[in-house]
Amino acid sequence: MSATLSCHGLSKRYGDVVAVRDVGFSIAPGEAYGLLGPNGAGKTTTISMLVGLLRPDSGGVTVGGVDLGREPLRAKAKIGYVPQEIALYPELTGRENLRFFGRLFGLPRKQLAGRVAEVLELVGLTDRADGKLDTYSGGMKRRINIGAALLHRPEILILDEPTVGVDPQSRKAILDGVEHLVAEGMALLYTSHYMEEVERVCDRVAIIDHGQIVAEGTRQELVAMVGSADKIELVLDGDVDAAFAKLRTVEGVLEAARTGDSSVRLLAEGGRYLLPALITAVEGYATVTATEVIEPDLEATFLHLTGSTLRD
Ligand SMILES: Nc1ncnc2c1ncn2[C@@H]1O[C@H](COP(=O)(O)OP(=O)(O)OP(=O)(O)O)[C@@H](O)[C@H]1O
Ligand SMILES: [Mg+2]
Repeated sequence: MSATLSCHGLSKRYGDVVAVRDVGFSIAPGEAYGLLGPNGAGKTTTISMLVGLLRPDSGGVTVGGVDLGREPLRAKAKIGYVPQEIALYPELTGRENLRFFGRLFGLPRKQLAGRVAEVLELVGLTDRADGKLDTYSGGMKRRINIGAALLHRPEILILDEPTVGVDPQSRKAILDGVEHLVAEGMALLYTSHYMEEVERVCDRVAIIDHGQIVAEGTRQELVAMVGSADKIELVLDGDVDAAFAKLRTVEGVLEAARTGDSSVRLLAEGGRYLLPALITAVEGYATVTATEVIEPDLEATFLHLTGSTLRD
């Protein structure tokens, strides 16, 4: 099956700064693909080249088999792009804003009202459609942005950090909406520096740092790069030395370390299921007063691969 979007060898330099270096990936029809990276990693620069707003120094992009460099209009028509900021008209209602964008995209006049109503439904704003934009929350405006990108029925939706600066309720609405679109078969390119969002929404993730993709895979594949063992932190009360000696012999415990006078850290596969055995093992020597099981996540993978954290 041919890719809905693919790029290869994309590079972009600003003066001395190499913003993007040799980036390539491919998104299948209906696939949700995430680009996860910290501030300044090159996400927006990459997207700008994918949607034809920025000319790459090298490399190429095809959308639904159409070469973006050779046939930009045909390629761009297959993309719904939501930049972080779009100028919406505050004096117009949500519905009127969408009609405006629909006309701009050349939607046939006869289909316009119907398509706008469909899109309002998709982004969950039907009941607020006739309120003026300046009465909308930041997240509702963002949903109008997403709606505007969907009007022409693109094959792929490209979102650049859609939840930055929106309230938790709108964030949820945006994520629910995006998941719904993906469930209906829309391909997605989602960029974020929030790993929880990427983990939730995306089938496959590329980790980008300093302009380069440093790893790519499903969440499980990426997490497996740091090993699949869970970390278990235990706080003990009693004869901690004797309890520690017992704990390291429990089947499934891969590594054990003392982390304080009364605390130990264990590495184990399936840590959550091991807790009862651990508690039993120390019986007679100590009691477990606190437990924490830390499963490997994308944050740990990111740290492992780049040596830095996602948050600034
Ligand atoms: N127009 C520009 N002129 C000069 N340098 C730029 C320009 N745009 C981006 N850069 C630089 O290129 C690098 C990548 O920036 P980019 O905006 O693509 O990152 P990002 O991953 O989108 O970051 P953020 O999460 O902050 O949006 C950064 O070092 C940035 O300073
Ligand atoms: Mg950006």
